[in-house]
Amino acid sequence: MKKIYSNINLLKKNTFIKVIKLLKKKHIVALPTETVYGLAGNAYSKSAVNKIFKLKKRPKKNPLIVHYLNLKSAQKDVCFNENFLKLYRKFCPGPITFILKRKQGSKINNYVSSNLNTVAIRFPKNSRTRKILKKLNFPLAMPSANKSKGISPVSPEDVYDEFRDKIKIIVDGGKCRIGLESTVVDLSDKIKILRPGYISSNDIKKTLKRKVDLNKNQKKIISPGMMKLHYSPGIPVILNQKKAGKNVAFITFGKKYSNSINNFNLSKKSNLNEAARNLYKVLREIKSMNFKKIHVVKIPNIGIGVAINDRLKHAANKK
Ligand code: TXA
Ligand code: MG
Repeated sequence: MKKIYSNINLLKKNTFIKVIKLLKKKHIVALPTETVYGLAGNAYSKSAVNKIFKLKKRPKKNPLIVHYLNLKSAQKDVCFNENFLKLYRKFCPGPITFILKRKQGSKINNYVSSNLNTVAIRFPKNSRTRKILKKLNFPLAMPSANKSKGISPVSPEDVYDEFRDKIKIIVDGGKCRIGLESTVVDLSDKIKILRPGYISSNDIKKTLKRKVDLNKNQKKIISPGMMKLHYSPGIPVILNQKKAGKNVAFITFGKKYSNSINNFNLSKKSNLNEAARNLYKVLREIKSMNFKKIHVVKIPNIGIGVAINDRLKHAANKK
């Protein structure tokens, strides 16, 4: 029998009006983006922002990304610079987040950026979410719609799985096209990639014609949420494995792994974009089963493979 989800809605006229009303009243809704689903609330409102942190059980020191429709709506809150404008013109709206200096007089609530003097901003591409942003006179703080440290949701059912009826409306945008969170690039000082994603460091280097720091040996924690256990399925994850025994889920890539029952193939065609799209779905599926451990084969560390490996490394951390 098909499961009934009471709060998953297509963006028909009625739902659209309700979503706008809820957001204006400082409530939280879940929205689709091209990367993952997000928990959205008014970024200028302390009470809305507090609700997001509470729902996610997210530590206040881990800042949120603010989502805008376009340049015009963002200009009062952050200081633009040349590098930002170049990347914006090339990739936006799209799966990239920029860390910029906060502007004096910006109305962004201080909790959003954990009292830092920078703010993370993004211009999502999903047409439903853009239609909603168009109707609002405030931007949306929107972290991934999962409990802190958990697996990001890539379908409306995943969001339901995380929060049940605690969110009044989950806007149905189908499966996320990319399936991994946006690339985060710090442009507030030296150019640094803080989180790899679909847009690669090479794409950024080529557009800016500048050196880009991959932030590999980072000592100081610039993005508090990025260092520890994250994207966790709740059981041990062991990387670079060639096989998996009984009671062990085996995450694989490529056609030579196709037959065993505990095998979860990210892409039989060895397509990294397909693998990225499947990663969180597979982790969530394994989590709902009775495995004791996960083994993962080596995934090519090129293109979006860098982002896949980044998420897997976090999932494999002990705490
Ligand atoms: O694709 C995405 O970016 C999704 C969708 C919903 O837009 N959102 C998302 O948000 O992944 P979240 O909260 O799960 O991840 C935001 C990341 C965190 O690792 C946080 O530490 C970092 O961005 N961040 C936010 N503000 C920052 C700042 N001012 N400086 C450095 N890092 C920041
Ligand atoms: Mg997240």
